[in-house]
Amino acid sequence: MDFTKVKENEERAILEKREIVKKDFWRQKYHIQGIVGLINDPNGFSQFKGKYHMFYQWNPLGTNHKNKTWAHSVSDDLLHWKRLKTALRPDTWYSKDGAYSGSAIVDDDKLYLFYTGNVKDCDGNRESYQCLAVSSDGENFERWEPSIVNQPNGYTRHIRDPKIWKKDGKFYAVIGIQSEDLEGKAVLYSSENIKDWKFEGEIAGANHGKLKDFGFMWECPDYFQLKDEKTGEVKDLLVFSPQGLEPEGDLYNNKYQTGYLFGKLDYKKTEFEISSDFVEIDRGNDFYAPQSMEDDKGRRLIVGWMGIPEEEDFPTVKSEWLHCLTLPRELKVIDGKLYQVPIKEMESIRGEKIEFSGKVTGEVKVGTGATYELKAKFTDFNSDFGLKLRTGKNSETVLKFDYNDKKFVLDRTKGEQADKRLRKVYLGDISELELTVFVDNSSVEVFINGGQEVFSSRIFPEKEANGIIVFADKDVNVEIEKWEWK
Ligand code: FRU
Repeated sequence: MDFTKVKENEERAILEKREIVKKDFWRQKYHIQGIVGLINDPNGFSQFKGKYHMFYQWNPLGTNHKNKTWAHSVSDDLLHWKRLKTALRPDTWYSKDGAYSGSAIVDDDKLYLFYTGNVKDCDGNRESYQCLAVSSDGENFERWEPSIVNQPNGYTRHIRDPKIWKKDGKFYAVIGIQSEDLEGKAVLYSSENIKDWKFEGEIAGANHGKLKDFGFMWECPDYFQLKDEKTGEVKDLLVFSPQGLEPEGDLYNNKYQTGYLFGKLDYKKTEFEISSDFVEIDRGNDFYAPQSMEDDKGRRLIVGWMGIPEEEDFPTVKSEWLHCLTLPRELKVIDGKLYQVPIKEMESIRGEKIEFSGKVTGEVKVGTGATYELKAKFTDFNSDFGLKLRTGKNSETVLKFDYNDKKFVLDRTKGEQADKRLRKVYLGDISELELTVFVDNSSVEVFINGGQEVFSSRIFPEKEANGIIVFADKDVNVEIEKWEWK
């Protein structure tokens, strides 16, 4: 097999396409995106030698899901990222059809990447190998391949996306897998030395406990603990991206989902004892395969891919690039509920500020902008109301509270995007609606009432579409603060 061309092809693709990509006005300002080609899952989110590291699935050669490498960027503040050289390329036998998703851990002053080597045999059948790579400087990686060769008995070759952690001197990893009866599951492995891994058992899955018919594959599982900020109780969470759930009303409307379960991981029984329903972590059109990590400030940070597999008919393809990651968010549990809150660092990119406050009936234009943070507080309402962002001749993104249905609605039907269905979540009887919205050149991320719900969606407005409008059928009281991004 000739792997010598892999790096060369990457470099050539960058040279050929970079200028085309750069000209696109939908390029993001503060979101990780590929310099050319397609990106998907965040990988190896970690902190090493004082810097945040983010790796991500990247096809440098085109905007399809092939040739997956691990692109690599570093940051001091989670907002300004510097691209380093590609960390892993499909240039070894065990990763020849893609260095697929995985995670990172810092141990003994070294940064370890734990990932899946994707291999297709000569008949096109899938083989998956869990592999390790190690670095002392955070930039050059030595590959140890493979660490886990075969799937356990009773499962198919769909085994991938290891998420690693360390507990009481031992390494553990949760891995997404498919059983022979074609159900999605999560399995637990352990290791004394990070290199040799032992299968412990299946901790969760479709038709396992209360999860009936819960998908044909679980991708990118993540396991961690959070301390409830009110009760002090430690909660275990299992986050994963099941494939194959059918839409149910406002739920599961994207092609594939991502959500979480509260529970307790029992290492002896190898069982994640579920204590909640499965809840979609993000209600928007574009969120999948997130990955979390705990930083040196004790924060549990999470970043998702702002995209969905097989829902990728986006207009940036003609400019030779596709997809980005979400902004990092902090996860918290408060009184038994999961919140996602914007990271404090977002305040550091606030530039010029405008404010508006008063009663609104009909529509009022309160400002303009394409890349900004906006906070809005609505009170005293008795009809539909909300915001229209990135408004122009043929574009607008509507964030609305549907007063009769008591639902928050994200509507991106006007503009150039593939999925024109609305996204909704039931909020119930509320007397106040507080929104924190981050608008980048081609995305919107909405945090509702302190992060109880989040919507992430890509939007593709016309270049000049930058209006910010408040609307209400009848009177609403509103207070707005908006900061243009520096
Ligand atoms: C999720 C996923 C992973 C896989 C990777 C390949 O989006 O399909 O399961 O490792 O993407 O790029």
